[in-house]
Amino acid sequence: MKISVIGTGYLGVTHAAALSSLGFDVVGIDIDSEKVSSLKKGIVPFFEPGLQELVEEELQGGRLQFTNDFSNAKDCEIHFICVGTPQRKDSLAADLQFVDSAIEMIGPVAKTNSLIVGKSTVPVGTAERLAKRLSELNPSVELAWNPEFLREGFAIEDTLRPNRLVVGVTSDQAESKLRKVYESLIAAGIPWIRADLPTSELVKVAANSFLATKISFINAMAEICEVAGGDVTVLAKAIGYDPRIGSKFLQAGIGFGGGCLPKDIRAFMARSEELGAKQSLEFLREIDSINQRARQRVIDLVRLEIGSDLKGKRIAILGAAFKPDSDDVRDSPALDIAEQIAAAGAVVTVHDPKALGNAKRRSPQLTFVDNVETCVKDASCILHLTEWKEYRDLDPVAILKRVKEPVIIDGRNALDRELWEKSGWRFRGLGRTTR
Ligand code: UDX
Repeated sequence: MKISVIGTGYLGVTHAAALSSLGFDVVGIDIDSEKVSSLKKGIVPFFEPGLQELVEEELQGGRLQFTNDFSNAKDCEIHFICVGTPQRKDSLAADLQFVDSAIEMIGPVAKTNSLIVGKSTVPVGTAERLAKRLSELNPSVELAWNPEFLREGFAIEDTLRPNRLVVGVTSDQAESKLRKVYESLIAAGIPWIRADLPTSELVKVAANSFLATKISFINAMAEICEVAGGDVTVLAKAIGYDPRIGSKFLQAGIGFGGGCLPKDIRAFMARSEELGAKQSLEFLREIDSINQRARQRVIDLVRLEIGSDLKGKRIAILGAAFKPDSDDVRDSPALDIAEQIAAAGAVVTVHDPKALGNAKRRSPQLTFVDNVETCVKDASCILHLTEWKEYRDLDPVAILKRVKEPVIIDGRNALDRELWEKSGWRFRGLGRTTR
């Protein structure tokens, strides 16, 4: 079976390479010719563990190719739409221009009786609207929706071994075509859920809203621990043993960022308002505020530790990516905090193992260095904001000699507090009392 994947961003490249590794002939299509020419050479323009190697392997195997010419998709049975749906600049809603134009481009060239499958995260109702448009462009082609749930840093694993496969379809033929694509995953026992189009769109945003709620819940508990003298890391561990709650996504800290959770909960709120059900998702506004407050609280902690006037103080920031094992800085809490501290007059130096290039492009006003030793030199305070393994492995004794003041604030509650304190550091964590 020949398959096309439209959009070669993070989701599209992973999906294309994964399908190719399952034995399909895959053509990845993008309008960005720079991206396409780098992918043709086997260069993945972002960091995702294992993806570069997988793309190289599949290109060499001859089943995977990249192009910016939509006519190369004319023999394909299935077309997956993997384009971005970022937040609009003028509102909380999602910008759907890329999905709309993908349908306009692929619709007319898609072969008779082929299937177009949306994977992008869209506001509920989008698939039905696009299906209507497609019936005008090419009536023999059907539309289905198959949301992705992949996490950055685990993209290949989440694509080839997802927790579940959800397909929104309007016919048995569409479902059986998708079953053929995912045959080996279904055989491996991955749960298969058939839904209608709106439910399949909602599953994705509901899942992300739940995850965001869990993170903000524990960050609200962190706020309470701070005023009541508790320790949120112990609290999270204790409630996490209840299987109804579960221990995952209860890591208190500076909160969620990235290209998905923040924009998805905002677009969901905007859509609920359009549907006349604003009240149902009003709580997500609070989830968003708790998340934004976490960024402020870490800055308050810095002022508490080294004085409220930050002018001229050297502050070392460990981490710029929104999470470890990623070079993505979209809505990154770490970079946001770095920018705010620099705007308050501090001399900020930022380190990140992989995200320096993207961080520099987004925040050219900051100073970036590629090694931790230079980053922490003469610092009055170190802020640990992205929990890379490299930071957990740091030797607090060696670092102590390089700083001006031995103050470390763990914005991710991921460092070994005992070890740092034993080595002579003043250690602070969000939601944890001082000892
Ligand atoms: C998320 C969803 O997990 C994924 O299913 C969906 O398809 C896309 O959005 P991703 O954006 O890659 O994936 O990141 P995720 O691992 O979910 O983390 C999101 C943010 O939450 C990160 O900034 C992370 O640091 C933060 N986080 C996560 C916490 O602050 N605490 C936690 O306990 C977990």
